[in-house]
Amino acid sequence: MTTVVLPVDKNSIEKAAEIILSGGVVAIPTETVYGLAANALDESAVSKIFEAKGRPQDNPLIAHICNLDMANMVASRFPDKAMKLAEYFWPGPLTIILPRAKTVADNVCAGLGSVGVRMPSHNGALQLIQAAGVPLAAPSANISGSPSPTSAKHVYKDLSGKIPLILDGGSCGVGLESTVVSMVGQPVILRPGAVTSEMIADVIGESVAVAPEVTKPHSSESAPPSPGMKYRHYSPKASITILEGGPDKFAAYVNSIRQDGTFALCFEGEQALLDVPCVTFGRVGDADSQAESLFDSLRMLDEKGAKSVFARCPDRDGIGLAVYNRLLRAAGFRVKKL
Ligand code: TXA
Ligand code: MG
Repeated sequence: MTTVVLPVDKNSIEKAAEIILSGGVVAIPTETVYGLAANALDESAVSKIFEAKGRPQDNPLIAHICNLDMANMVASRFPDKAMKLAEYFWPGPLTIILPRAKTVADNVCAGLGSVGVRMPSHNGALQLIQAAGVPLAAPSANISGSPSPTSAKHVYKDLSGKIPLILDGGSCGVGLESTVVSMVGQPVILRPGAVTSEMIADVIGESVAVAPEVTKPHSSESAPPSPGMKYRHYSPKASITILEGGPDKFAAYVNSIRQDGTFALCFEGEQALLDVPCVTFGRVGDADSQAESLFDSLRMLDEKGAKSVFARCPDRDGIGLAVYNRLLRAAGFRVKKL
C-alpha cells in the first residue's frame, strides 16, 4: 500500500473522512501526539488499527469526539464530576474513562466495561471527526512499543506501507499523550499528562489518586488498572538509565564511561560538560519544553546508533510527572541515584 502524506486542508479532510467511512484508517495530528484513527463504531475498521500498529488485542483505545452529543455514542453514562471535567478541560489533553455504551465497537474497549473518551484540541482532528460524523478510535500512531509520534515524519517512519493516508498538521504542541483519568469509580489518574492531578482536583473539589504504576512497575499478581501499564513503552533500541543528581555529578559519571555507543540525554546547554555524544530534551526546569521534545529525542538516539544512554532526571511537578513517567518506562524503570 502506498502511504500518502497531505497537509491538513479542506480537500485532505474530505479524503480522510471518505477513508474513515469506508472502513479504513488514517493517521491524524492532535495537540498531544499523532493518532491512528478509525470509525469507533465499526469493529472491522478498528481491527485494522491493531494490525497496523502490532498492538496487543487486550489494550483498549481512546474514542475521540468533537462535541458532547457524540459522547453518547461511546459512553452509557456521564457522571456529574466527569461532566465537570469535560466542560472545563475539553477540547484538550484529557481522556476520561466512562462506562461504555453498547454502540461502541467491542475491540475499542478490549473487553472492558469502560471506554476512554477525549475531545482533542486540534482543528484538523476536530474537523475530521465532524466531517466523518462518527467518533474516532485512535491510539498513538506508532508501532506498538516505540516512542509515540509527534510529527508526520515519525508516523511515516513507523507506518509507511501499512496505512493509506497521513494528515500532516506539523509537530504536536504538547508532545506527550493525554492524561487518562478514570471516573468510573473513585477518580484516579492512570496516565499523567498536561492536565495534572492538582488541576483535576481543583475542578471536581476532591482529591484524585495517582495510580502507583505511574512511578513503579506493576506488580504482576493482579490486573493493572489500565491494560497499557503492562507493556514496555516508548522504548528506543538503546538501553536507557536515568541518573538522579545534578548536572555536575551527571557529567562526572557519564564522562567516566568510555564505551562506544554511550550517549547522554541531557538538557539544552549541558553538552559542554559532557565528553560523550549528546541528545537534548528541552531546558532544565522547563517541563513543557521537555514534554514537547522527549519523543523526538528518543527517536533521534536510535537514528544516531546509541546503544547505552544515560538520561538526566526531570523534575516531577506539573507536566514534569508525565515527562518522568514516559522516560521511566522508556528506561524500563532503570534509575540510579548519584
Ligand atoms: O493523547 C492521546 O491520548 C493520544 C492521542 C492520539 O489522542 N492517544 C493515545 O492512545 O495515547 P494510546 O492508545 O496510545 O493510549 C491509551 C491509553 C492506554 O494506556 C490504554 O491502556 C488506556 O489509555 N485506556 C484506554 N481505554 C481504557 C479503559 N477503558 N480503561 C483503562 N485504560 C484505558
Ligand atoms: Mg500509545
